[in-house]
Amino acid sequence: MTERILVAVAWPYASGSLHLGHLGGAYLPADIFARYHRLAGSDVLMVSGSDAHGTPITVKADEEGLTPAEVVNQYHPEILGYWEALGISFDLFTTTMTENHAAVTQDVFLRLLEKGHLVKGTSTQFFDPEAERFLPDRYVEGTCPHCGYTGARGDQCENCGRTLDAVDLIEPRSRLTGATPVLRETEHYFFKLPEFAEPLRAWLESKTTWRRHVKNWALGMIEEGMPERAMTRDIDWGVEVPVDDLGPGKRIYVWFDAVIGYLSAAKEWAAGTDDPDAWKRWWEDPAALSYYFIGKDNIPFHTVIWPAMLMGYGGLNLPTDVPANQYITFKGQKASKSAGVGKSIGWYAERLQPDALRYAIASVLPEQNDTDLSDEDIIRRVNEELVATWGNLVNRVLSLSERNFEGKVPEPGQLTPTDEALIASIDKALGTAADHIEAVELRAGLRTAMDAASEVNAYLNSEEPWKALKEDPDRARTVLWAAIQAISGIRVALTPYLPWTSARLGEMLGIGPDVSAWNRPEIAGGTRLGEVTPLFDKLEPDALDG
Ligand code: MF3
Ligand code: ZN
Repeated sequence: MTERILVAVAWPYASGSLHLGHLGGAYLPADIFARYHRLAGSDVLMVSGSDAHGTPITVKADEEGLTPAEVVNQYHPEILGYWEALGISFDLFTTTMTENHAAVTQDVFLRLLEKGHLVKGTSTQFFDPEAERFLPDRYVEGTCPHCGYTGARGDQCENCGRTLDAVDLIEPRSRLTGATPVLRETEHYFFKLPEFAEPLRAWLESKTTWRRHVKNWALGMIEEGMPERAMTRDIDWGVEVPVDDLGPGKRIYVWFDAVIGYLSAAKEWAAGTDDPDAWKRWWEDPAALSYYFIGKDNIPFHTVIWPAMLMGYGGLNLPTDVPANQYITFKGQKASKSAGVGKSIGWYAERLQPDALRYAIASVLPEQNDTDLSDEDIIRRVNEELVATWGNLVNRVLSLSERNFEGKVPEPGQLTPTDEALIASIDKALGTAADHIEAVELRAGLRTAMDAASEVNAYLNSEEPWKALKEDPDRARTVLWAAIQAISGIRVALTPYLPWTSARLGEMLGIGPDVSAWNRPEIAGGTRLGEVTPLFDKLEPDALDG
């Protein structure tokens, strides 16, 4: 079906290198989904950018002796480099430091204020008596009041995932000085989240196809009771508050502006085309769909807070689905920038073909449960699955054809029912893979394509075209022709996962690099094959050692 689809991908903090957990949590699944829908004829807009604000950035800046903007300017290009290296196909990957983003954020803020959804109020916040500063969010650590985790941050508990108010932490301590913070009154704007509890509940209940863990989390959050949340902070880095009655030293809360990034990025993208209103096609037309690719720690902000902001603003589409992933763990440990577990995406991209890395991650996407991954697993999956099942299949069929039929696709004779069944089964697999990808079951989509490749391997092993070459050349030509048609179909199913080698395979098949639709191009007998070389390098056992 051709549709208009916004692929909205979590904005990584530009405060460190990203690791495979990020890649598998949000970026790769988003890219597979977007690439599929483009092939299927949908009008896809895929946006994200570096999250430049908030205490993750200012804490890093303090540590490094840099300004927050310098921190962002250091990591943003590195992040862009990952997308380039791995083919993560954003229409726009911007940052939240742009003027456009500030303007869009302030517009949302003012609209919510006008409509009475944001109200000024006084709250008590932690203040560091030694540093003589308020301590927003991650400047305070302590024990989570919900789960008892002792390393909880003032904005969110990494252990149970709940969003927190720093003042609720047990045994709080200042990250600046280690001092025990004291309470002080301060004025802020509060978002009246409780007003949206019922509309949110009804909206969430209507989402019958959402991942269970995502929907349950969101409903649970409403069930627990949602307090009004301060949407401004005592901090000097962030989008400026568009009303000046709070006094100096206040900025908009990072999570308020970051989720607005999806909208501001769509506007920025449109401003760069010949139709500056083009963003409306994804945001204002109720028929347009929007999918938010995020890790599970971002669920509260995307399934509750952002939808409530959109409800309050009015006239813009709510998320169609938020297929949040669980975590990829590395030998049992959650990779996290702060914990330093797991090497950067760039490190892996230097050592592996992009499609090999994409394959290894796509086959373990944590769609339902946390999924463990190690360097040995990556090597094993590449060698024993990708190379053994798919790379070798392509190589043996195309090499046999090239060598025995003057570099051309052989002309088939009469097809047997077995040949016809093989091709029919591949076409069916293409349909099944499409269904899986549309349902954001991306692992299953990949499995479907790889099972189809195994089926062609089994077909070749029983039809033995290499033997038939001498005894029954007509049969050999037919079997190779049928196997080539099957490869042509599987290539399409794998294209969203393996875009680079799909393009190369297109050249080898003599039909050019691009795939133009979600169906199997027939490769006519007599088509001249391109140069046949292995699609993948087999990895040495020590490929990821250094
Ligand atoms: N920067 C946040 C994180 O890394 C994610 C922000 S997603 C957005 O957890 F929607 F808010 F932009
Ligand atoms: Zn907790």
